[in-house]
Amino acid sequence: MVLTNQSLQSYNTFGIDVSAKYFSEIKSTDDFKALITEPGFEKEEKLILGGGSNILFTKNVDGLVIKNSLPGIKIIKEDPYHSWIKVAAGEPWHPFVLYCVERNLAGIENLSLIPGLVGAAPMQNIGAYGVEIKDTCEEVEAVNMATGEEEIFNNAACEFGYRESIFKHKLKGQFLITAVTFKLNKIFKPNIHYGDIKRTLEEMRVQEITIKAVSDAVISIRSSKLPDPKVIGNAGSFFKNPVVSRKLFNTLISKNPLMPNYPQKNGEVKIPAGWLIEQCGWTGKVVGNTGAHKSQSLVRVNYGHATGQEIYDLAMQIRQSVKEKFAIEIITEVNII
Ligand code: FAD
Ligand code: EPU
Repeated sequence: MVLTNQSLQSYNTFGIDVSAKYFSEIKSTDDFKALITEPGFEKEEKLILGGGSNILFTKNVDGLVIKNSLPGIKIIKEDPYHSWIKVAAGEPWHPFVLYCVERNLAGIENLSLIPGLVGAAPMQNIGAYGVEIKDTCEEVEAVNMATGEEEIFNNAACEFGYRESIFKHKLKGQFLITAVTFKLNKIFKPNIHYGDIKRTLEEMRVQEITIKAVSDAVISIRSSKLPDPKVIGNAGSFFKNPVVSRKLFNTLISKNPLMPNYPQKNGEVKIPAGWLIEQCGWTGKVVGNTGAHKSQSLVRVNYGHATGQEIYDLAMQIRQSVKEKFAIEIITEVNII
């Protein structure tokens, strides 16, 4: 069924009140193929929507919004050390993580509580606490939106990078991701060196570091820092953390000895954009209906009635102030429509 002039307010975690000229929910790949060949819709601009947790709508969508609701989780292969699980794109991410935690399958527990659906996870190679989905993603199944043909992208073909993949840039808007297969580990090697995980496990008085304990620690840290979109509209980090040359890093650290930094394998250095934004005085600032969150400056928020344009304009003001103070151009992570 195709709806017209559908409000998208409850379909994006910023809670922006825009509408879609046409809107349809798909529950199978066949639904999708039928929809894109339906007379009248071939030429419409198409936008795939998952959980809407990484999108900022700045205007109404003058085209067809396709809400992905493809269901299904299946263990498709096992060996003594691994399980391969194929997950349909419409499954919500965090319940899938819990499904794996309950079955003692390791590899994505550090990615607990990330909002959104499985189908969007490869789009920006979701990551948190030292883990990205590229570490466990075996392959991505997708349908070409122009031809309806099915294609399989193995891990290398996805061209994963930090908050990047082939689907976000080179093939932007060209494929509907229909399923993702993950290779998960039956043998658990905890990855707890990042951020506050170790300290949180200690505070939780965890006796044995299990997959569930790591998941619980990540949930606890995230809940204390990041605003819940059900309470305050947001889309997580608005910008990516910049990765700068060693030369620029040396200049910056000599002037800012307390600047947090994460050296990369290639000699470059990642700097938390949240810290840069905080140094520019934005933390907790409210500007009209939007602002920079008080406990995570990297998060733009909607205090109730913000328009997407208002949020975008403030983000650009913040970006400009970081550029003026640190000579670093921070790049948007959220998809701007
Ligand atoms: P949407 O916002 O619906 O879509 C995102 C993009 O992907 C859009 O361009 C859309 O067109 C496209 N898309 C969606 N589904 C498909 C599909 N099936 N096929 C083709 N294209 C598709 N991200 C992280 O990486 N790490 C974090 O720690 C993290 N924390 C967050 C915390 C909060 C509070 C919030 C609100 C967001 C956070 N995010 C984080 C961002 C977000 O949760 C992820 O990017 C998530 O994967 C987006 O999923 P979604 O289904 O909501 O995608
Ligand atoms: N910091 C500040 N002030 C702030 C925010 C951060 O000084 O307002 C500094 C602190 O030193 C802190 C450091 O930045 O220790 C890192 O902050 P945090 O651990 O909150 O992580 P982040 O770098 O801001 C990234 C991801 C998050 C992910 C976390 C945990 C990006 C763009 N963001 O945030 O992902 O959950 O690490 O791994 O890489 C998202 O993509 O939407 C997202 C939330």
